[in-house]
Amino acid sequence: MKTYLVTGAAGFIGANFIKYMLAKYPEIKIVVLDLLTYAGNLGTIAGDIDNERCIFVKGDICDRELADELFAKYKFDYVVNFAAESHVDRSIENPQLFLQTNILGTQNLLDAARRAWVTGKDENGYPTWIEGVRFHQVSTDEVYGSLGETGYFHETTPLDPRSPYSASKTSADLFVQAYSETYKMPVTITRCSNNYGPYHFPEKLIPLIIKNILEGKQLPVYGDGTNVRDWLYVEDHCKAIDCVLHRGRTGEVYNVGGHNEKQNIEIVKLTIQTIRQLMTEQPAYRLMLKKQVMDANGEIAIDWINDDLIIFVKDRLGHDQRYAIDPTKISTELGWTPETPFEKGIVKTIRWYLENQDWVAEIAGGDYMKYYEQMYSNR
Ligand code: NAD
Ligand code: TYD
Repeated sequence: MKTYLVTGAAGFIGANFIKYMLAKYPEIKIVVLDLLTYAGNLGTIAGDIDNERCIFVKGDICDRELADELFAKYKFDYVVNFAAESHVDRSIENPQLFLQTNILGTQNLLDAARRAWVTGKDENGYPTWIEGVRFHQVSTDEVYGSLGETGYFHETTPLDPRSPYSASKTSADLFVQAYSETYKMPVTITRCSNNYGPYHFPEKLIPLIIKNILEGKQLPVYGDGTNVRDWLYVEDHCKAIDCVLHRGRTGEVYNVGGHNEKQNIEIVKLTIQTIRQLMTEQPAYRLMLKKQVMDANGEIAIDWINDDLIIFVKDRLGHDQRYAIDPTKISTELGWTPETPFEKGIVKTIRWYLENQDWVAEIAGGDYMKYYEQMYSNR
């Protein structure tokens, strides 16, 4: 039975990853290490934790003693490091926390893995490693910086981070690569584009727009809304990590993306349209609206759910203009291709939010409201 340490799995992508892995591989054990920051929610994975195949440990990836203890106790074959501060806007407010978690936390895990996995030295003085172990770092396309109107991020594109978030993720990647070169540590890195799907914290664009529509609030679009992101359904990202972790070449970076570039304004308009469409097809969804005004047919009105809700607000500082991934390497080497077209993925995602408002209420409590007021009142 292979044992995985998965950090940050009470968050968006990590939670989707462990659900996917537990369903796909009956014979694995997963230990989740998560600090349960504002972005982590134990409720998201409560149904997965059975203390046999899936064990939860609340703790900090920066905690050396805890990391050593876990490696000694569970003898991990794999580490998949999702744990991070992940929101660019928050990194602009508090860069140091990003440095702490994303850089020092990753380096702490690398060291714990080194202490646990090294078996001796080869004739050149390089450490030798337990057969088959691997440290996988979950990274982002934001490490490459920002593109103009054309071109793609390739694995060879120079690293050029521009926000405190992307600077911290880049630095973590460099440490992972340094451990690969210096100690011959078996590592892989994936750099993925923007994810969307279930369990996405509503500070990020798509879930925030859905939440605001349901609450009858304005929809804040930064700047002129022409910034481009390359959107990938979260399960496709999980599949890519599974591929790279098990079949990727050690020491390599793989870009992950689905050639699905969209301007932010397009995403917002599409979300508005999709919610209206779903509420037309299935009027019961209208009960999810906070604002319940009756229309002429005696049904909860939805005609106000339109583009007039959009409000252009002050731009993000240093806002990257465009991200776009070239996924040729992972496709040709490992046969990975995205399976969920955006048109289907966005409907699935919105339907999930409409049907899981309890989850949103649980995760977006008082702290979220405080954050929202602070972040958006001065825009
Ligand atoms: P998230 O913010 O939803 O979740 C992060 C999780 O990490 C939370 O459960 C949180 O409690 C936990 N965490 C934070 N600090 C911790 C610490 N010190 N110790 C232990 N746990 C801690 O993030 P996400 O969107 O799921 O992103 C996961 C990873 O994927 C991140 O490394 C991020 O950089 C990367 N990534 C995200 C995207 C995206 O679109 N969301 C795209 C590419 C890469
Ligand atoms: P976000 O979801 O924060 O992801 P990232 O910054 O990692 O790409 O933002 C996606 C895009 O949407 C980004 O260009 C910023 C923009 N945005 C808005 O226009 N309004 C919002 O309220 C948010 C949260 C983001």
